[in-house]
Amino acid sequence: MIATLNITISLAAAFQGHLLRTAGAHSAINMAAELSTSINIKEPRWDQSTFVGRAKHFFTVTDPRNILLSNEQLEHSHKIITDYRQGVVSPGLTEDELWRAKYVFDSAFHPDTGEKMILIGRMSAQVPMNMTITGCMMTFYKTTPAVVLWQWINQSFNAIVNYTNRSGDAPISVSQLGTAYVSATTGAVATALGLNALTKHISPLFGRFVPFAAVAAANCINIPLMRQRELKHGIPITDENDNRLGESTKAAQQAISQVVVSRILMASPGMAIPPFLMNHLEKKAFLKKFPWMSAPIQVGLVGFCLVFATPLCCALFPQKSSMSVSRLEPELQEKIRASHPGVERVYFNKGL
Ligand SMILES: *[C@@H]1O[C@H](CO)[C@@H](O)[C@H](O)[C@H]1NC(C)=O
Ligand SMILES: *[C@@H]1O[C@H](CO)[C@@H](O)[C@H](O)[C@H]1NC(C)=O
Ligand SMILES: *[C@@H]1O[C@H](CO)[C@@H](O)[C@H](O)[C@H]1NC(C)=O
Ligand SMILES: *[C@@H]1O[C@H](CO)[C@@H](O)[C@H](O)[C@H]1NC(C)=O
Repeated sequence: MIATLNITISLAAAFQGHLLRTAGAHSAINMAAELSTSINIKEPRWDQSTFVGRAKHFFTVTDPRNILLSNEQLEHSHKIITDYRQGVVSPGLTEDELWRAKYVFDSAFHPDTGEKMILIGRMSAQVPMNMTITGCMMTFYKTTPAVVLWQWINQSFNAIVNYTNRSGDAPISVSQLGTAYVSATTGAVATALGLNALTKHISPLFGRFVPFAAVAAANCINIPLMRQRELKHGIPITDENDNRLGESTKAAQQAISQVVVSRILMASPGMAIPPFLMNHLEKKAFLKKFPWMSAPIQVGLVGFCLVFATPLCCALFPQKSSMSVSRLEPELQEKIRASHPGVERVYFNKGL
């Protein structure tokens, strides 16, 4: 944990340093040649095949400071990016400024429709929203109305994120979104109340972990359920040059377990560390005197954990996963050995 924190802190410092250098670069630029128009700003700035590259990318994408940007700043980035896409480079633009504009642009405008997105549905709002919801869920987990309220708020937030992030070319209808919203809310409330009833008589310290257990259980059930078609029929696998080799259910199992593990890991720092601290703090005079301070303190603790955990866990497994041919289904192994004798590893997209 300490090692992880060290990495994150040095990453955050590197990122800040990078912002400062960007500012400092202004004066030197007059001498530099004009920026080339061949930078691929559709892709992330950093190499996505390394952990550090992915971590930098996700830190930038989830950076909550982006919600504070003014309309003018957004319009400025919008202009830089739309110009650049048409091969027009604003005079004096540096590569760092271009990348900064790309990330600001992506944070606020929908990739397909180009519309400005609802504020709380943006990636940059994820950490502050998640920390408030998670912190409150972990503070108010004892009474039924509070559990129902916070599960409902969480699912409403998810529905807004789903709506904000809906795909432009295959739009989901409002009634589909509504159905998903109602069924997700019912499921979440039922799971939370069920677990609460089951764990009525356990010790207060364990009681604090009920919300975390609920999240872990929900992920273990929901993700395989949602992707059962892939578990039954397999997912496409390719060689390292993207040549399709067939479909594998073993690859689907690995992809889905990685997604479940990274979802639970993503929730664990925020939901597993604060209960210990809160259990300790609530015995102290200060919180006995000001019990209403519990919620803000809990939200702060969760936030601190999430700011680091979310991007690092997003970065944990590459989007493209791989496995050795010898671990595939026997029939598929034979088929690949016959058609592509040199292939040792196969690759597949692990999905979301
Ligand atoms: C929205 O969708 C994009 C890709 O379609 C994904 O990268 C991003 O994480 C999603 N954002 C949220 C807030 O879920
Ligand atoms: C925030 O929570 C939502 C659901 O509550 C989850 O899908 C998402 O991955 C979380 N994002 C971050 C950045 O923590
Ligand atoms: C909120 O809902 C999402 C989706 O159902 C879930 O992944 C997430 O863990 C929930 N958040 C909390 C704090 O329970
Ligand atoms: C959001 O979208 C996901 C994936 O389409 C779905 O599983 C989930 O139930 C939706 N959540 C809400 C609250 O609508």
